[in-house]
Amino acid sequence: MTAVGIDAMEIWTGKLELDLPGTFAQAKGEDPEKYTKGLGLVTSSFPDTYEDIVTMGANAAKRLMDRKGLTPDDIGRIDVATESAFDNSKPVSTYIAGCLEQVFDGDFHHANKGERKFACVAGTQSIDDAYNWIKAGRNRGRAALVVATDTALYERGDPGEATQGAGAVAMLITENPSLVELSTEQGYGSADETDFLKPNQQFPSVDGKRSVQVYLARMREALEDFESVAGDTHPDDFAYVPFHTPFPGMVRKAGLFGYRHTLRGTDIEDELTDEIGRQPREEAFDSWEEYEEAIRDYMDSLKRTEMYRDWYARTIEPTLNIARQVGNWYTGSVHVARASALKSAAETGRELAGEHLLVGSYGSGAQAEIHAETVADGWKEEIQALTLDEQLSRRYELSFEEYERVHDVHNHEKETELEEFTQPDGEFVFTGWGRMNERKYDYVE
Ligand code: COA
Repeated sequence: MTAVGIDAMEIWTGKLELDLPGTFAQAKGEDPEKYTKGLGLVTSSFPDTYEDIVTMGANAAKRLMDRKGLTPDDIGRIDVATESAFDNSKPVSTYIAGCLEQVFDGDFHHANKGERKFACVAGTQSIDDAYNWIKAGRNRGRAALVVATDTALYERGDPGEATQGAGAVAMLITENPSLVELSTEQGYGSADETDFLKPNQQFPSVDGKRSVQVYLARMREALEDFESVAGDTHPDDFAYVPFHTPFPGMVRKAGLFGYRHTLRGTDIEDELTDEIGRQPREEAFDSWEEYEEAIRDYMDSLKRTEMYRDWYARTIEPTLNIARQVGNWYTGSVHVARASALKSAAETGRELAGEHLLVGSYGSGAQAEIHAETVADGWKEEIQALTLDEQLSRRYELSFEEYERVHDVHNHEKETELEEFTQPDGEFVFTGWGRMNERKYDYVE
């Protein structure tokens, strides 16, 4: 069977940065440790005045095409995943293709373009669509370009404001990929939920505490569904477990649940028995509430064990390095987590080819998806080609007052004039509105 997966990726961060424990916590009169220790965030990325989901997505895609030496003819479909779209009809992929056609010879007239929506899980769903298209033999040898791009901004004063972010991830999906091969097996956990939504409004309505519970419940369902096709998983089956990362503190909870679930009935549970006992089994309890309480106690003990802490440090912690510095990128977030893990492996000289990842995606509303990936031979070269560190270090650091003004610039309901903070350099920029209220873009040398 032909391997299909992610051949290469590029990341584009918004060019502004907000220091959360410093600037933000101070302005809000909060303890900085809520950010560093609780949510697990240090800085977040913001778009400059001339950036938006199109510029960030097109800039990531251009870099990807340049680096892989591609022309538009090599791309058979362009799918954009976003929950920050500004048009209910014309997809963002048409704008991104339009941008790319400004700088590449040829055009994308024969590429199928679309936009995927299901909150943060849409990026993974777009990869899935590309996978199916290639496996069905409809790609005519061409690759799919998947762009996950978002400006994850919340209403000012909303608890979610602490977890904002902005950036894009562009990924090339091909046969015989250089980065990771995707498993055929997948698991879903999906239900009609109202934890986070944007009913024709720019900023989300969020029930933050509930969204945390829904994330965990759907992820658990997805894992059970995955195991029903792929067989039981063991915590040590995977080099890394990248999760959707709205903020690293969320993944701290998901990691513990995942570890508890997958160690059940394994040698790890046996080894831990003397220290914390065996984990409670539902059939031993009269009610679900009693069982849940026993599970909570067990998890409290589990998270203090050396075995768990070591697993977490090896398998989860490296997936969070980038998120801590950029915040939530919604559809791109789980793909940033994968990149973070692979980057960490490359930096520590770990050899990963042939090893497996378990990838947990989540979108509010709500759906979790779990699949496995096998790291491909070219992973190190691909991941070392990322320029993310350089991009992060070049971000302009906002004062709180500047943050409020740039937040207003990106608020579709306000007309705010503001000078840009950074100079565009070899990138696409937003230049204003056209006669049909379309957004317009130029490439700046
Ligand atoms: N030192 C250490 N930890 C601290 C702290 C301090 N001084 N102050 C708070 N914390 C911890 C809290 O205990 C909590 O961790 P816990 O959940 O493990 O107990 C964490 O920091 C967050 O604090 P909390 O008071 O719950 O923050 P909040 O009320 O501002 O809301 C969210 C947190 C997640 C609900 C909010 O950021 C939100 O709505 N986010 C958007 C929605 C989202 O991302 N959902 C995730 C699923 S997609």
